[in-house]
Amino acid sequence: MDRIKITGGQRLNGTIPISGAKNAALPLMIAALLTPDRLTLKNVPNLADVMNLGRILRNHGVDFSIAGKRPGQAEMQGETFHLTARDIVDTTAPYEMVSKMRASFWVLGPLLARCHEARVSLPGGCAIGTRPVDLHLDGLRALGAQIDLEDGYVVAKAPGGLTGGHIIFPKVSVGATHNVLMAAVLAKGETLIENAAREPEIGDVANCLVKMGAKIDGINTATLRIEGVPYLEGAVHTVLPDRIETGTYAMAVAATGGEVLLEGARADLLEEALDVLEKAGVSIERTNHGIKVAKNGQDLQPVDVETRPYPGFPTDLQAQLMALMTRVPGRSRIRETIFENRFMHVQELARLGAKISLEGDTATITGVPQLRGAQVMATDLRASASLVIGGLMAQGDTIINRVYHLDRGFERLEQKLERCGAQITRLSE
Ligand code: EPZ
Repeated sequence: MDRIKITGGQRLNGTIPISGAKNAALPLMIAALLTPDRLTLKNVPNLADVMNLGRILRNHGVDFSIAGKRPGQAEMQGETFHLTARDIVDTTAPYEMVSKMRASFWVLGPLLARCHEARVSLPGGCAIGTRPVDLHLDGLRALGAQIDLEDGYVVAKAPGGLTGGHIIFPKVSVGATHNVLMAAVLAKGETLIENAAREPEIGDVANCLVKMGAKIDGINTATLRIEGVPYLEGAVHTVLPDRIETGTYAMAVAATGGEVLLEGARADLLEEALDVLEKAGVSIERTNHGIKVAKNGQDLQPVDVETRPYPGFPTDLQAQLMALMTRVPGRSRIRETIFENRFMHVQELARLGAKISLEGDTATITGVPQLRGAQVMATDLRASASLVIGGLMAQGDTIINRVYHLDRGFERLEQKLERCGAQITRLSE
């Protein structure tokens, strides 16, 4: 299993190109199931999760190919994917595949909408919380689906096709919003989704669906009104930049000091996180080419932050912010309100010398003058990113084990950081 070695203490200076968003690319690939025509996605990040989903979609009969780089295309630029689901040959998503990646459960809505049946394994448990799927199932039931649970599988049927319905989500869920939205676009009649998640990746998928011929009002708001159409066609769509990757590198620069242009990043996708950094004393400049982040001299100020659904502070940046705050004088407080067990990084950061106490859903971080390198274990994707930030700040060597978590969601992480002066290498075995 690969490991990453970081020798801390280097400032970051230069440019980091921001990749396409993983959490948009995945549902966009799934949207290919909705049409027999070709869906072309540009700026897709080369990530383990993306490739894994490609295999899952192939299993359903999707013809999936990656266009090679053309002359003049930058090495760091994302890939172009072509996906064509002319015939769906299998409406089952088996346990072996869905258990590897939770987002693959989102094939349920599109398969049901297009084929009027689907059999999808319940996703496995996950390190960050119980993560149920009740909201997905209730949403699809409201569109007329009959749903049974059989041997760990969700078996869904809609013999005459789905029909429009009214869904008021009792809790904001990104995945349930994706699933129901992608089902509703091919349902007969109108669907109203209230308390929909407003994460920008949902807006990106909705915009792509509109290019495919879907009728959706209220994109990027909590109320989505969808007029079902009988048929969607192919489209060409460019994946929006990854706001979590952007925030992660912004926090890395804030942690090490230096000045970096996050090239291609869009500030409007993570205003709340940028606000938190600015209030802490990080300099953020919004430019036409991306976001310039700088931290030179002077201590940062502690923060008091709660994770919230978009547009609030994202849970996917909670671990990275915590790593940054470990060396900020004074006491910071971070409350996690989305997932009940998303603090696995706390004990690993403690191995680097961080002082963090946990009480229920709240972590209190008391800044220490210095972290020291150690062996640490990546537990989930974003927790791994927090350990990279910890390692970049720490004196001496940090070895991060189980980096396959990082490979699921950060494209060319070592290369991007190394080019800005970090001492970081992958130890392959
Ligand atoms: C998406 O997960 C993201 N995944 C997560 O990013 C992200 O942390 C999360 O949204 C919150 O922003 C992708 O986009 C692929 P939810 P999702 O449904 O859709 C509860 C990463 O690192 N809930 O919005 O699974 C749930 O338990 C990943 O990139 C129900 O109770 O998250 C949680 O407490 C990790 N019933 C809350 O809602 C349901 O049926 C929000 O979860 C569904 C969810």
